[in-house]
Amino acid sequence: LDVTRRGIELRGGSVSAVLYGLQSLRQLAFENRGTIPVVRIHDKPFFAYRGAMLDVCRHFSPIGEVKRFIDILALHKLNVFHWHLSDDQGWRIEIKRYPKLTEFGSKRKGTMIEKQWGSCDNVPYGGYYTQDEIREVVAYAAARGITVVPEIDLPGHMLAALACYPELGCTGGPYEVETGWGVFEDVLCPGKEKTFEFLENVLTEVMELFPSEYIHIGGDECPKTFWKKCPACQKRIREEGLKNEAELQAYVTKRIEKFLNDHGRKIIGWDEILEGGVTKSATVMAWRGPGYGIEAARLGNHVIMSPNSNCYLDYYQTRDVDNEPLAIGGYLPLETSYALDPYNQLNDEQRKYILGVQGNLWTEYIDNYPYAQYMALPRLSAIAEVGWSYDRKDYASFMQRMRHLTQLFDYYGYNYCKREFADGGNNENKQAD
Ligand code: ACM
Ligand code: ZN
Repeated sequence: LDVTRRGIELRGGSVSAVLYGLQSLRQLAFENRGTIPVVRIHDKPFFAYRGAMLDVCRHFSPIGEVKRFIDILALHKLNVFHWHLSDDQGWRIEIKRYPKLTEFGSKRKGTMIEKQWGSCDNVPYGGYYTQDEIREVVAYAAARGITVVPEIDLPGHMLAALACYPELGCTGGPYEVETGWGVFEDVLCPGKEKTFEFLENVLTEVMELFPSEYIHIGGDECPKTFWKKCPACQKRIREEGLKNEAELQAYVTKRIEKFLNDHGRKIIGWDEILEGGVTKSATVMAWRGPGYGIEAARLGNHVIMSPNSNCYLDYYQTRDVDNEPLAIGGYLPLETSYALDPYNQLNDEQRKYILGVQGNLWTEYIDNYPYAQYMALPRLSAIAEVGWSYDRKDYASFMQRMRHLTQLFDYYGYNYCKREFADGGNNENKQAD
């Protein structure tokens, strides 16, 4: 980016590069109240993968809000939107071959009240994206240099699908779309061939909609309770020479990976895919802690660092929780997000496997868009800077840049947490809930 008295010249090696330059220009204009200073900037991102995840299953975001979220990613030069599209509490993507997934699986009879497990507000809740809407979002993101990575979470977190197709579970059900939060023991039955037929058909439509090289196949939090008792699962374990149920999940992961590889795609899975053995070609998304990413990099697997210790945007950003909208728990202030070191404990050879970083916004308690923005910002700004410029890790200077960026947030009416700023701590954002 070359700004002289005569004009502005912006050049980049790719369309994305020029888009990033435009974002810098936009930020410069804000910082300088509408004028652009004479400046020369030569810059490039440090990590290739810089993502943000939005969970639209626990609470649904219509495509207008999804696009606003993508705008926030674009502003931060993030280049991946990870769209968490299926979970126990709702199936959110139209699949033509399985219409029940959206007709029934996208709806639940109610939602648990605050943190009262077992309660239900009995207010029917639902929502899903048509394939046309999905295409619209993918195109919107692409125009902003952002790839949409869809996630179909398997073989756990599948109650919404099981409620529609109970024959895909070990017990045959009946199942219901969940109204509460947590980890549920009813998961897909990998003993049955029709489970794989279902997954392959779903993923075929997913691949038609999403040009992304990566497809996220979830893999997190899959209890093995029913697999241990299920004759079909036990038969599969014997016939495939597997040692235990952990290896049975690895069998699912590998089989689905092979299917996607055969169609020119690659998988990303949550770090549980390391259990029971993982192929070298799978990318591991570390969430339970950086240690899982370190383990994966040492094995020679590609890694995206998204540890809950630094990157979980649904955690409290202050200890003053009584004056905050309800969050899932934890304590993750802005400075901790900024302190993420994706290379910690890795030697030069292992560092090559770290693709990048990602912030995750799970929405159990986040039931409206201003609240989602409040949780994402400014911590996502910190994660974006870690992803863009690994070696510029000075929190004080980050906060200076942040004060400029918040002018832009203010102009666009983005809701964000102000606690770390001079005028912060005044609960102005409490209206979010
Ligand atoms: C996760 O937070 N269950 C990936
Ligand atoms: Zn089974």
